[in-house]
Amino acid sequence: MSGNRERTYIMIKPDGVQRGLIGKIIQRFEDRGYKLIALKMQSATTEHLEKHYADLKGKPFFPGLIKYMASGPVVAMVWEGLDAVKTGRVMLGATNPLQSPVGSIRGDFCLAVGRNICHGSDSVDSAEKEIALWFPEGVTQYTSALDTWVFE
Ligand code: PPS
Repeated sequence: MSGNRERTYIMIKPDGVQRGLIGKIIQRFEDRGYKLIALKMQSATTEHLEKHYADLKGKPFFPGLIKYMASGPVVAMVWEGLDAVKTGRVMLGATNPLQSPVGSIRGDFCLAVGRNICHGSDSVDSAEKEIALWFPEGVTQYTSALDTWVFE
């Protein structure tokens, strides 16, 4: 897959959904030139969330994180484009919103690490695993008319 086709998994967490931030978060990725190739709203089961956060199982905040993530629907998305994983994380901001610069999504819309409204894959490898977990049915393939206006 070429760099222009790098994919990341971005999720709007239950607080982001409840606070009506779905459109604003999507808008930022579209404005930047990323292409939305999969999207669904889902109330995830505890079992599913434990798989998603399996690496954090031993952390003291793990039970609270799972409870929070299971408290309402999330919006699961796959975004595609140049450097999508790293730049996607920059757009989200730091995990702790208080350390997120103004202009980033967390820096503009939230305050607490346990209510940080969004998730983004931390590596290309994690992105592949997370996309497979949340979209076992696969993702849509299409050519965007914008491609030649965003990439050389
Ligand atoms: S760690 O400890 O370095 O592995 O954690 P980190 O990479 O910073 O964060 C991993 C995910 O755990 C969430 N997190 C928390 N949730 C609730 N409460 C507390 N205190 C907390 N600390 C970290 C954090 O938001 C990360 O979730 P995602 O969905 O990846 O953003």
